[in-house]
Amino acid sequence: MSVSDLFKPLTLLHGPAMRNRFMLAPLTNQQSEYDGRASEYDQLWIEQLANGGYGLVQTCATTVESGGIAFARQLGIHSDAHLPGLSKMAKAISNGGGLSAVQLHHAGHRANPQLGGIPAPASNGVVPDTNAITTEEVERIRDSFITAAKRAQLAGFDGVAVHGAFGWILSEFMSPYLNNRKDKYGGSLQNRARFTIEVIEGIRKACGPDFQIGWRLSIERYGLRLEELREVTAEIFDREMIDYLDLALWDSAQMVQEGKFQGKTMLSVFTELNRKGVRLGTAGKIMSAQRAGELLDEGCDFVLIGRAGILQQDFPLQVAANPFYESPKLPVKAEYLRQRGLSERFINHLRGWQTFVAPGSF
Ligand SMILES: Cc1cc2nc3c(=O)[nH]c(=O)nc-3n(C[C@H](O)[C@H](O)[C@H](O)COP(=O)(O)O)c2cc1C
Repeated sequence: MSVSDLFKPLTLLHGPAMRNRFMLAPLTNQQSEYDGRASEYDQLWIEQLANGGYGLVQTCATTVESGGIAFARQLGIHSDAHLPGLSKMAKAISNGGGLSAVQLHHAGHRANPQLGGIPAPASNGVVPDTNAITTEEVERIRDSFITAAKRAQLAGFDGVAVHGAFGWILSEFMSPYLNNRKDKYGGSLQNRARFTIEVIEGIRKACGPDFQIGWRLSIERYGLRLEELREVTAEIFDREMIDYLDLALWDSAQMVQEGKFQGKTMLSVFTELNRKGVRLGTAGKIMSAQRAGELLDEGCDFVLIGRAGILQQDFPLQVAANPFYESPKLPVKAEYLRQRGLSERFINHLRGWQTFVAPGSF
């Protein structure tokens, strides 16, 4: 195992290299203004992370259309009004020495009407009284992802991370369970993957050769099929369409429970693919220096830090100082998070996560 290897730089196919192997996972914190502009709390949070020693910092899931919103006070990138705040965030990350990426998000069928969201299901019947979006609407949302990426570039971000996980729109379209369309975006695997592929290709074309594109993929739930996702990933790797794949596992040690790959780790199903120049990382309970180091031995190029980065914003610096560093254990008291500089808005968001904030703690 090689904790010191976590501090070796990592080149990417486009743009500058990561200074080390730590990437901050996207973390929704529900502290933006109601119209999606970054608030002072967003800035404070990003500044803390920016100085935490990460090779790359991803923002929280950020709406590419106002109708694609899932969470109250979600950060937005669907309007030029969002640019000043985003530019400030990009600058803060860059000043801290890390690369930056905006996570591009559309909630699809789970867009929340109470927040102005317009559910955009792949199929009829998934949302009561709501028809599947038309082919033209799919293309409009695809273009919104691309426009949002341009805006991220204009704001000074090094790249974007395309949210293809957790049943949100791109993951929804990939799923044979949620997508029963008859147009070119449904049916065969190639058709169900088309939305994702067109978003990635469109961003590359619009943003040019220096811009970094990550893709987040989850495997569990939403009717997603591991074998299919592996096949799409193999094509994306083979064509070197992205700079990095971010595997959104909830436990990086998770085993495959059924099918062709039963008995292997989910991670190995992807690390054994020929990834050419594309980099691969995983999230999922990386709560110690040793576990992060082990994952390099398991074939990852980098690791994504989620909850451990909320508990200790400078996780990479802690690991640099102590190769046996272990994250504080969950749940924590609200006061602990307050002392770490989290806003009440963020703490309230975390109260919604099972086992994050100790029940009844103030
Ligand atoms: C508070 C919180 C907010 C999250 N927000 C997002 C998000 O905006 N986008 C996303 O793709 N994943 C999100 N996730 C998932 C994390 O990025 C990460 O994949 C997951 O927490 C597993 O990593 P961990 O075990 O290191 O926390 C969130 C997780 C937490 C705990």
